[in-house]
Amino acid sequence: MVPLISTEKASELVFNHFGITSETTPLPGDMDINFHVKTESGSEAVLKISEATPDTGYLDFQIELLQHLKKKTRAIALPEAMATSDASYIKTLTLNGTTYQLRMLSWVPGRLWARVNPKTTSLRKSLGIAAGTITCALQDFKHTHAQRTLEWDLAEAAWTVPYADRFSEEEQHLILHFQRLFKSLQKKYETLPKSVVHNDINDYNILVSNNLKDPEVAGIIDFGDAVYTQTINDAAITICYAIMELPDPLAAAAEVVKGYHSEYPFSEKELELLYVLIGMRLVVSVTKSSLRKEEDPSNTYHVISEKPAWQALQKWAEVNNNFAHYTFRNACGYPAHPSEEAFKKWALSNTISLTTFFPTQHIDSVTVLDMSVGSTLLGNLSEYSDPEVSEFKLKQFSKTNPTTILANGYLETRPFYTTEAFKSEGNNGPQYRSTHLGTDFWVPAQTPIHAPFDGIVKIVHHNDYDKDYGPMLILEHTFTEGTFYSLYGHLTLETLEQLNVGDIVKQGQQIARIGEHFENGNWAPHLHFQLILDLLGNNENFNGVAFPSEIPVWKSICPDPNLIFKENLSPSKSSLSETAIIDFRKEHLGRSLSLSYSKPLHIVRGEGAYLIDIEGKKYLDTANNVNHVGHQHPRVVAAGQQQMAVLNTNTRYLHEEIINYADALLKKLPKELSVLHFVNSGSEANELALRMARSITGRKEIMAIEVGYHGNTNAAMDVSSYKFDGKGGSGKPEHTHILPLPDPYRGRHTDADSGSKYASYAKRHIEHLKIIDEKVAGFIGESMVSCGGQIVPPKNYFKKIYQYIREEGGICIADEVQTGFGRMGKTFWAFELYDVIPDIVTMGKPAGNGHPLAVVACTQEIAEAFDTGMEFFNTFGGNPVSCAIGRTVLEIIDDEGLQQHALDVGSFLKNELIALQEEFPIIGDVRGEGLFLGFELNTTEKKPLPQHAAYLADRMKELGILMSTDGPDYNVLKIKPPMVFSKDNAKELIFRLKTVFAEDFMTTY
Ligand SMILES: Cc1ncc(COP(=O)(O)O)c(C=O)c1O
Repeated sequence: MVPLISTEKASELVFNHFGITSETTPLPGDMDINFHVKTESGSEAVLKISEATPDTGYLDFQIELLQHLKKKTRAIALPEAMATSDASYIKTLTLNGTTYQLRMLSWVPGRLWARVNPKTTSLRKSLGIAAGTITCALQDFKHTHAQRTLEWDLAEAAWTVPYADRFSEEEQHLILHFQRLFKSLQKKYETLPKSVVHNDINDYNILVSNNLKDPEVAGIIDFGDAVYTQTINDAAITICYAIMELPDPLAAAAEVVKGYHSEYPFSEKELELLYVLIGMRLVVSVTKSSLRKEEDPSNTYHVISEKPAWQALQKWAEVNNNFAHYTFRNACGYPAHPSEEAFKKWALSNTISLTTFFPTQHIDSVTVLDMSVGSTLLGNLSEYSDPEVSEFKLKQFSKTNPTTILANGYLETRPFYTTEAFKSEGNNGPQYRSTHLGTDFWVPAQTPIHAPFDGIVKIVHHNDYDKDYGPMLILEHTFTEGTFYSLYGHLTLETLEQLNVGDIVKQGQQIARIGEHFENGNWAPHLHFQLILDLLGNNENFNGVAFPSEIPVWKSICPDPNLIFKENLSPSKSSLSETAIIDFRKEHLGRSLSLSYSKPLHIVRGEGAYLIDIEGKKYLDTANNVNHVGHQHPRVVAAGQQQMAVLNTNTRYLHEEIINYADALLKKLPKELSVLHFVNSGSEANELALRMARSITGRKEIMAIEVGYHGNTNAAMDVSSYKFDGKGGSGKPEHTHILPLPDPYRGRHTDADSGSKYASYAKRHIEHLKIIDEKVAGFIGESMVSCGGQIVPPKNYFKKIYQYIREEGGICIADEVQTGFGRMGKTFWAFELYDVIPDIVTMGKPAGNGHPLAVVACTQEIAEAFDTGMEFFNTFGGNPVSCAIGRTVLEIIDDEGLQQHALDVGSFLKNELIALQEEFPIIGDVRGEGLFLGFELNTTEKKPLPQHAAYLADRMKELGILMSTDGPDYNVLKIKPPMVFSKDNAKELIFRLKTVFAEDFMTTY
């Protein structure tokens, strides 16, 4: 044992042998005693003190290895051996009668991998690159001491076998699984290429750059376990640490493999064993921890990875060996399934006609239907989730095209599969198995299906779950280079009785019939047909859909059914690429249209509180207060569709729908606001409100709130400080008078009397106008300032302002475009929280749940004064379709109790956010009412942190949650989701926020 050495002694050793004055602090070490050395000049190093061995060859080996790497690669930082005063690298000394050896290595800067959060996809790839670079650089390094026996050498991993019985039954099961596999592959393993490898690229030996947003592996340290062994071992070891504590270890492993392969190209033979070697390294790791715990219970460093290693072992055992193999092949650019090409070749000369398959069908042509996420054929969730509605639609289609066969679906990403049943946690938030692996033939129930090729019945099974296959059949066939399978799903129950596993089937023989929806997993009748090259150990079911991210692998395991048919089943039209859409927008749409996020989202479907992109990724929407009662609410959709089918015209004819809507809306307003004007946007509503105020008072001067936004028309822009004081703005127009943002948290006035103080600016403007002999026409303000950063003005603010404005004969306009329609929870309109009644109220966004519909409500007096004889005509405002939609929105708010829901869920969420504030002091303020909430990010001195807000919104998007940032300092996160946002959605939001708040970027400010 090396004697215990004090830091004073360590500094003395550094001085005596390296001639350097330094301060030393102890560092953890596995075998050696290590000190961090900081010299007077500020440079750093590591002093390593090892137990002396009679032969210093092992330390020589390490030093030569580092010198070799220094010559070979500059791409990553590695330690360098430092020369002692007498120009050697190792010093043998005796202390208290013990001989030991001393070395000093240069310091490699960076953060330990173990402490980096989050470990991103690109970080894992860079780890692969760094490790691969070392492997590659060591290919021609030889040293006699490299060939040594180490328990950490994976080639020696069989030593763990006798220790398996020290673990619980469950643990043994995991260990034995890998030990057996490893044993069975020994022969192959022994033939794999060998070289000197680092042999311990663990999470405390990997150093990561200090870039907290896009970290990269910057250095690798500790070559103390280097050994001459199978080269692939180093990849297996590195991967073990890269997959720990992740929900999807295979995806993470593939990312490392990809980077690794770009530096050290793996052979196909090496990839075949990688899965087992990763498992074996974890087995060695947990066995070692168990033994060491017994030997030295006080040394926590020895068992630091024990728990994560067990978890990784458990998760890794759940990964299918072959699927992992194919995934690694794909990551390295090989065809994922080794027989893919051979099968394709065979299929080319063995095609069959669709009439062999469906001899009773009259088939002149194939029509490929679109059932992708954004498919309008599928329509609303309420339609496509009802098999009878889908069947009806398909029958209608077939009626007009009787001799066409309807087929589709290979690699189509579909909305059916974006439900909880298809959801699982990935390394970047939730993911859905939404991409279809077979081809569907939409033929009538009872249609007979005939075998495409000779085969044997491999599986007949009833997968009796909603939206599963129902009765399913898999046949096994042979081709030149092996076996392939054909799968038939959604059959009749009878099929299960007619076939038995092992039955021989001849080409053209009837094998099954198409099932009805009540027996086929609850689908419109169709056949799911899939080709498979490897059943991956399944004996009852087989994936018919997969995660979009795994499709490059799956499409190789499940080749395109089109390959075996003479007819063409491929879609003729592909959708526009995202680049094409962006390019067109840039060239032909208004230049100042913006896109959210640096990689814009391609959203093609909305459902309740979710938006779904073209790849089936589902985003929880916390930002969209337009789709008030939920995205594509079936009742709103139906109301619009039904009225659209009958009549849509202007208000110059009598129609009941405008009356129905007006009546319903008036019931939600104070009785004083009893006259309505219908328009099409919030901007138009504010334009009209401002025109009313000016026309009635005969004045021009308008007061508005700082950072307020009221729309894009001329008059609305003129009162929108958010725009004219913002980017590209040219300052306040002549007749606009801006009141400071009434922010009681971080604004000019934060005391108990801030409401009166903020309102007093209105008084000052009035006084100022008197000097120039003008009077105010009106005041416009949101009752909670949304663009200003979800500002909740102090209690008596509006009361005072309204008083001052009305004393001058001015008109008070409340902009409820964002805040209205029950969102506040306690009240239907935000102004009601302030106990005021405006003269004019403007409404927009939520009124039509996404349909352009806006309203101006005013008092009888205002309406009369505005009626100068000039007609108010609006081509679209108040049309029957808009009114039907608006009425339905109001009905849904009541029927589904959404105002109360906003209060309940909003209060829950607000309390959770306040609790989060305790844990993460970066949350400076949590505010808002109902489902109109916001929180801002600040230092403890209330300095805004806009970059942290942007980082948070970006990361939340990656984790599947859309959030928006706003406020004059862009440090406020706004929460104003569709009102159907549930308590579970709120919990999910909090869970993801916690994840991101704990990340390095968010904790550094
Ligand atoms: C408070 C407020 N008023 C008015 C508008 C303008 O509405 P629209 O975009 O429908 O014209 C907006 C839009 O963001 C708004 O937030």
